[in-house]
Amino acid sequence: MGDIAECSWYSLVLCSIGSVTVVYYLLRWSWRCWHGFKVYVLSEIWQTNLRTYGQWAVVTGATSGIGRAYAEELARRGLDIVLISRSEDKLCSVAKEIESRYKRQTRVIQTDFTEGHSIYSAIAQQLEGLQIGILVNNVGMNYIGVLANFLDVPDPDQRITQVINCNTLSVTQMSRLVLPGMLERGKGLIINISSEAASQPQPMLSVYSATKIFVTYFSRCLHAEYRSKGITVQCVVPFIVSTNMTHNVPVNPLVKSAASFARDALNTVGYTTYTSGCLTHALQISNLHMPKNKQPSFLQLVDKADELTGGAWVRHHQQDLRPPELYMILAGV
Ligand SMILES: NC(=O)c1ccc[n+]([C@@H]2O[C@H](COP(=O)([O-])OP(=O)(O)OC[C@H]3O[C@@H](n4cnc5c(N)ncnc54)[C@H](OP(=O)(O)O)[C@@H]3O)[C@@H](O)[C@H]2O)c1
Repeated sequence: MGDIAECSWYSLVLCSIGSVTVVYYLLRWSWRCWHGFKVYVLSEIWQTNLRTYGQWAVVTGATSGIGRAYAEELARRGLDIVLISRSEDKLCSVAKEIESRYKRQTRVIQTDFTEGHSIYSAIAQQLEGLQIGILVNNVGMNYIGVLANFLDVPDPDQRITQVINCNTLSVTQMSRLVLPGMLERGKGLIINISSEAASQPQPMLSVYSATKIFVTYFSRCLHAEYRSKGITVQCVVPFIVSTNMTHNVPVNPLVKSAASFARDALNTVGYTTYTSGCLTHALQISNLHMPKNKQPSFLQLVDKADELTGGAWVRHHQQDLRPPELYMILAGV
């Protein structure tokens, strides 16, 4: 009799623990679904009015790819644009196009972010007097155009400094330049473009991956420090977008065009401060973090790439796999 009573007492405890666990996971899962729905679906319908942040948006790396797409989309939504990149010709041509298509004012600043600290006083002078509501820290570069070990690049001494200057110093220094004006007006938006390559260590993309996790952490800390003063810092973590950096891999349901990525990502402003930018990237990324046997087969991209490359992606031994080939595999081309 005593045994039976003890047994049912144990069963009750185990059942309660089981039920609490199931309810906990169901609530967590429902919350994540609701959050995703808000960020990627409702945001299409109710968009934040970006013009309320201020008159001007500054975009670094604005002459092609994601940066150009952000510049055009921000102009379409009513902001005047400061474009910053290396090539004067490309800057003038993009500026002209924005002015004629969206009837907004533009300014261009020609600079090379690999040069480091010396460039920022000139940028500060050229931004003086502008009411800057939005800064998009987009500029970024690869360590090398192929997957390679840390020392296997020509002139690593120079390259390390260039990538760090371009991918991390630019983000911190540009934020330093625009924040005081934003704080004075009590509002502002800084968008920092990180990368999915930062979400876990990426051997053979070591410097790139490490600079991008810097961007992610910096964004999240800055948001925590300044949100009470009206400043939003959003970290955008894209997967694959068809641009020069990804060798213009064809667009498909998993690979976004830069224009559609920027449109979707800007819709998420006001809904979240950490985002994949678009629904398809969010799904691919949540898939990568699931246990393998739970991943839907149509999203098993990394596994597929790994299998097709003889394990290069995960085991990082095959050094002659070039990004175009890798991205084609990832994109299922
Ligand atoms: N594409 C993707 O799949 C992907 C995925 C995750 C994250 N990202 C991130 O998104 C950002 C944009 O990438 P993207 O693919 O759009 O690149 P992209 O097509 O190569 O464009 C880079 C832009 O930056 C400018 N630029 C490059 N180096 C510069 C330098 N040293 N100084 C000043 N401007 C420079 C380029 O213009 P000029 O040549 O005229 O200077 C161009 O406007 C990067 O931060 C990248 O890490 C991209």
